Amino acid sequence: MYLEKLSLTDFRSYAQVDLSLEPGVTVLVGSNGIGKTNLMEAIGYLATLNSHRVSTDAPLLRFGTERAMIRAKVVRGEQATVLELEINASRANRGRINRSNPVRARDLLGICQTVLFAPEDLALVKGDPSNRRRFLDELLVSLMPRHAATRSDYDRVLKQRNALLKSGRTGKFTAGHEATLDVWDQHMARAGAELLHARLELVDRLQPHLKNAYAQLTDGSKEASAVYRSTLQDILDDDGAAARSVAGTGTEPGAESPAEDLRLLSVEQLTERYIQAFAAARRRELERGISLVGPHRDELELVLGSAPAKGYASHGETWSMCLSLRLASYYVMLDDARTGGSPPILILDDVFAELDVQRRRKLAAIVSGAEQVLVTAAVEDDIPAELTGRRVKVIPGGIDEQGDR
Ligand SMILES: Nc1ncnc2c1ncn2[C@@H]1O[C@H](COP(=O)(O)OP(=O)(O)OP(=O)(O)O)[C@@H](O)[C@H]1O
Ligand SMILES: [Mg+2]
Repeated sequence: MYLEKLSLTDFRSYAQVDLSLEPGVTVLVGSNGIGKTNLMEAIGYLATLNSHRVSTDAPLLRFGTERAMIRAKVVRGEQATVLELEINASRANRGRINRSNPVRARDLLGICQTVLFAPEDLALVKGDPSNRRRFLDELLVSLMPRHAATRSDYDRVLKQRNALLKSGRTGKFTAGHEATLDVWDQHMARAGAELLHARLELVDRLQPHLKNAYAQLTDGSKEASAVYRSTLQDILDDDGAAARSVAGTGTEPGAESPAEDLRLLSVEQLTERYIQAFAAARRRELERGISLVGPHRDELELVLGSAPAKGYASHGETWSMCLSLRLASYYVMLDDARTGGSPPILILDDVFAELDVQRRRKLAAIVSGAEQVLVTAAVEDDIPAELTGRRVKVIPGGIDEQGDR
């Protein structure tokens, strides 16, 4: 797919800006602070309803305004779709598809698909686990928009369950609370199982692409992989070990039964396992006043060779891992495109300046064949020659059409 038009109103630094874009490579060059990332952020937001820079909407609204608009024309094969997204300071965001009646913002998900590379991606490796969970969930929603509801159901139940556990901690926990907690356990087990099931499947799909992308970007001396560490697995393993030791079999070497592979379980089976795990964790959860088991505490561990990337990888390796994760998402989406979808738009915001010459060239060679690639740079020399295509200058307020070549 590709974006043919982008128009922003009161978004970040722009009162109004209108851009025409084309398939193929477009490199946007302009000085620091001119508004290049703001443009890319708007496209990413339209695709995911998240900014890659901030976690709330407020900074997206131009100073002093209450409402921002992102409008875009997305072309997918023969079909063009006009998307409009209204970001509001004091009420729910809304969308429109082909000038229809307003719909929930969430209904726009999946129509414009992007893979965005940015310097902030370093947090995928170096940051806390929430960065990696967000990476998985965002990709999940892009591929299967119905999982936006899975996520928000889970978040809602988690919040309510935590509030209840917290009240238990303050000593006001009664038998009535206990019964209510049982009900929340059921809800959270179901929503958690759906999310976990989808994430595990996604990690399996990402895995081979991550390995290949890392090999392509580097000299291939180390292998990249990702392991999903579930808090459910931990507690089931602990529980299993405890049961075995009670039975007197856990102490003999080799007597332990192998850990259950969660990837082989259905949503229903995972739901049961969660209920089991919540029961095992209840006392600890009541003591701590928070939910300790569930996808909200899981980790996607990134591994380079035999060591975790976090804390061990060099700066260059960290970058290669981040790029490989984004490339892997792109390839997973491409696999989907082969079965009826459309290749996502690639956005590379400020990444070339961060890379050495070798990696620049390799990345450029990999991405240049995508249907649409939007690249930003403050210095044109940072863009490798392999990335041929349209070069445009970003000036205050938009693109300099005169300078287009
Ligand atoms: N909500 C906002 N309202 C008005 N201006 C904003 C808002 N948010 C950011 N800006 C302005 O937008 C500018 C930053 O734009 P942007 O990050 O797109 O720059 P850039 O061209 O990507 O620069 P660099 O090359 O340094 O990455 C800053 O000058 C900032 O003050
Ligand atoms: Mg920028």
